[in-house]
Amino acid sequence: MAENIYPIYDKMMTRQDKEQLLQQKGVMVWFTGLSGSGKSTVAMGVERELHRRGILCRILDGDNIRAGINSNLGFSEEDRRENIRRIAEIGKLFVDTGIVTLACFVSPTRDIRDMARQIIGQEDFREVFVSTPIEECERRDVKGLYARARRGEVKDFTGISAPFEAPENPALSIDTSRLSLQESVEKVVEMIANN
Ligand code: ADX
Repeated sequence: MAENIYPIYDKMMTRQDKEQLLQQKGVMVWFTGLSGSGKSTVAMGVERELHRRGILCRILDGDNIRAGINSNLGFSEEDRRENIRRIAEIGKLFVDTGIVTLACFVSPTRDIRDMARQIIGQEDFREVFVSTPIEECERRDVKGLYARARRGEVKDFTGISAPFEAPENPALSIDTSRLSLQESVEKVVEMIANN
């Protein structure tokens, strides 16, 4: 066997080293819920508050993932699965760097979310169910997609022509039709602070 001439330098720094550097712990906060339920809005509030407290965060959401690395994927069950698989693998890299990572994806089935949990690891995975009822999501219809789905112009639309399975045992549930944005943000921040 060739002699190892770089006995110290050939080892990657560990997650622990990075957590020590940052003075924080990496964790994946996995928001699941219907389109328009408020996942990204709450996550952005959480990011802002954690940043204020000196905690480094990263948001992963449809805008930065489906527009880029997953631009070849649609909304069939198979594509959603691949979407979430890649997101979980990317998210794991952030968590392993000691970063508080906030993933905002519909992730509509238990099966898909279980896969994400497995990739990231149970220890580091916090499921947050944004449980805003579909009536409210449809009323908001921020992107006009519910109207289009009702007209049959968007196929496999979650909650209308594709399933959404509510999580059975989330770490936290947030209904943004009942809680203010600030209240929702506080609940998530509190959960992370108790990490
Ligand atoms: S997931 O099911 O694969 O987790 P993801 O969160 O990445 O979905 O993307 C959901 C977003 O894509 C929605 O908020 C909505 O804006 C848009 N979208 C477009 N078509 C669909 C569809 N058929 N079903 C759900 N969301 C859709």
